[in-house]
Amino acid sequence: MRINKYLSGCGIDSRRKCEKLVTDGRVRINGKAVTELATDVKDGDYVEVDGKPVALSNRKIYIMLNKPKGCVCTVNDEKGRKTVLDFVKVKERIFPVGRLDYDTEGLLLLTNDGELANTITHPKNMVKKVYSVRVEGMPTESELKRLRTGIEYNGVKYSAAQVSVLESSDKETKLEIVVTEGKNHEIKNMIESLGRRVMFLKRTAIEGLRLGGLSRGEWRYLSVREVEQLKALR
Ligand code: URA
Repeated sequence: MRINKYLSGCGIDSRRKCEKLVTDGRVRINGKAVTELATDVKDGDYVEVDGKPVALSNRKIYIMLNKPKGCVCTVNDEKGRKTVLDFVKVKERIFPVGRLDYDTEGLLLLTNDGELANTITHPKNMVKKVYSVRVEGMPTESELKRLRTGIEYNGVKYSAAQVSVLESSDKETKLEIVVTEGKNHEIKNMIESLGRRVMFLKRTAIEGLRLGGLSRGEWRYLSVREVEQLKALR
């Protein structure tokens, strides 16, 4: 098994982040540092990250957290900020699936299943992420159309799969925006490209999986049915 896939299956981090661990020289196999992404892990190999042994976990864990504002979606934060793992105490190593910004709240998945994490975050699968967004002022019809048909901001193209206005006043507007691309700061950049500001951002669903009544900072295991629904996205 490829080294990044193996490390992700151990619950270390997403495959992409695990690639960085390898190229940064933090991974050893049988005592020897490996930096080649094409390295395979074989049965019986002894694998370490930062000098600590890691192993594939037999039990796959699937957790939904209602991420509050004021924490980062990383396993460790170099600036010592609170991370989403401070809210979820389980004995298995798990990592966040994709990311929400420091000041964004809502539905975040955590797992040690690198395969499923990859399915959910890979742009080719066009997995729907639903956001509740409060925007300054009242976007015009032509602005909403631009969000739907596609816009370019700082050289990156964005488009929303769906945009609905839920409530509106001169002061602020509540939108529901569905995106399938998973680009960094996707919603904020789309709104900023209109010359407006996001005042509040919350992810409420990923495909059919809804945050429901989970309070801020609370988490729960996904049901078998919910996991099966996510796996069916492959
Ligand atoms: N889009 C953003 O701008 N931020 C998030 O946290 C998620 C989507």
